[in-house]
Amino acid sequence: MQHYTKPVKEFVEEHTTGVAVVLVTGVGLLVLRRWLAGGVCRSKARLDGKTVLITGANTGIGKETAVDMAKRGARVILACRDMDRANRAADEVRRRSGNGNVIVKMLDLASLQSVRALAKDVEQTEERLDILINNAGIMMCPQWKTEDGFVMQFGVNHLGHFLLTNLLLDLLKKSAPSRVVSVSSLAHDTGKIHFDDINLEENYDPLISYRQSKLANVLFTRELALRLKGTGVTTYTLHPGVINTELGRHFFPSLPRWKRLLFMPLFFFVKTPWQGAQTTIYCAVSESLQDSSGLYYSDCAVKEAAPQGRDDAAARRLWDLSASMVGLA
Ligand SMILES: NC(=O)c1ccc[n+]([C@@H]2O[C@H](COP(=O)([O-])OP(=O)(O)OC[C@H]3O[C@@H](n4cnc5c(N)ncnc54)[C@H](OP(=O)(O)O)[C@@H]3O)[C@@H](O)[C@H]2O)c1
Repeated sequence: MQHYTKPVKEFVEEHTTGVAVVLVTGVGLLVLRRWLAGGVCRSKARLDGKTVLITGANTGIGKETAVDMAKRGARVILACRDMDRANRAADEVRRRSGNGNVIVKMLDLASLQSVRALAKDVEQTEERLDILINNAGIMMCPQWKTEDGFVMQFGVNHLGHFLLTNLLLDLLKKSAPSRVVSVSSLAHDTGKIHFDDINLEENYDPLISYRQSKLANVLFTRELALRLKGTGVTTYTLHPGVINTELGRHFFPSLPRWKRLLFMPLFFFVKTPWQGAQTTIYCAVSESLQDSSGLYYSDCAVKEAAPQGRDDAAARRLWDLSASMVGLA
């Protein structure tokens, strides 16, 4: 130790300004990173005896949300499309939470038949459903179609969840007070519902398609709140932040190598999945939100959605269009 002290001291004395700049920058970056991590859900609410269903819970924010719900004592249903990944995630959720009451059910949101099968299974086998978390999502994929011929991002991110929620409403009402939480994104801010070309057949753009689907989450939550007034079922939508998950799996590989390299330093500033799950958890359990419904949240606080996310006429129109697309009376 003694051996190194002298040269280090000499180096610092010779480069005082440089060392100070590096230290201040380092601390500044760490403070910025902490600030960007956003709010944390402080609620200590317990969920013993309650049931939570989370879509797309085998990875990312969904898995972290599942761990939190299980730690609070809930029975947790992971509704996922890949059973191997789902079973591995369920093992992890049980291990990390110490709660064995975690089960897996098959759900492919790109198939209305799969959504109907899951809803029927849940209706028949579960006594209650206290919190439904519409978390699953796909971002910026190529011009893929769902099994039923809908553009993939709108089909999975919105239509699948729209049908699932509607089919589970009786159980949610029976379990009231209960909540429906739909994970949207800041991307809704620049979104538009293309009512005249909802599947974007004429001019497909992966980003426009994602934005449309995330705006649909916000409008759905708003309209659902109106329709559920007085039932004890409340609705929430949110932006979770920018998080290091698998969501970029279709986007990053499409970039040239040099652009991917440019993105790399930004990963230092994005949220971890645990941090990204905090606003979802806040909407799902926070006692202070018991009487709120239809609103948009970010960083564990209510925020104003973009103007097109507060358009009641568009919300109603989207509801009617969605109902006819999924074949709901
Ligand atoms: N990460 C961010 O920065 C960010 C920002 C804003 C909003 N969000 C939103 O946060 C939510 C969670 O995303 P994440 O970041 O945790 O992404 P992720 O790690 O990619 O997780 C997405 C989950 O959705 C599932 N999923 C995708 N397509 C599905 C389908 N057809 N049927 C059933 N499940 C399906 C995935 O299952 P597989 O693993 O089987 O594909 C996975 O479990 C999404 O709604 C996303 O739009 C994320």
